[in-house]
Amino acid sequence: MAKHVVAAADEIPPGGRKLVEVKGRAIVIFNLAGDYYALNNRCPHKGGSLCHGRLTGLVESGAPGEYRYSRRGEIIRCPWHGWEFDIRTGRSQCDPQTLRARNYSVSVETGAKLVEDPYVAETFPVSVQNNYLVVEI
Ligand code: FES
Repeated sequence: MAKHVVAAADEIPPGGRKLVEVKGRAIVIFNLAGDYYALNNRCPHKGGSLCHGRLTGLVESGAPGEYRYSRRGEIIRCPWHGWEFDIRTGRSQCDPQTLRARNYSVSVETGAKLVEDPYVAETFPVSVQNNYLVVEI
């Protein structure tokens, strides 16, 4: 498994996302309140672009007429048919045990650390002043 520099950390503000390509795969990077997550951009249903989906939250109901809304902005809804996925895990909201969007490990590395380690920079030159997002794939 190789590590790939995909963006400067400050390119993606909290609540934001960025579509990148690593080894021919389209991957969308999300920033949830300062934590970064990466999902394959291809929805496992029919291939819709998760990067173009709407951010939403989790709606749960314990009884008819009652509902609770939580985790605002942590669920991505596919723009094609509305399937929803947990950005933190890639798991589907309707069938979390068997259906999920592929997720990848993302870390934030300093420019100085990148110069030390054998990372592969594919999208832009590396500078030692900033923090960068690194995807393992
Ligand atoms: S392609 Fe994503 S829900 Fe159908």
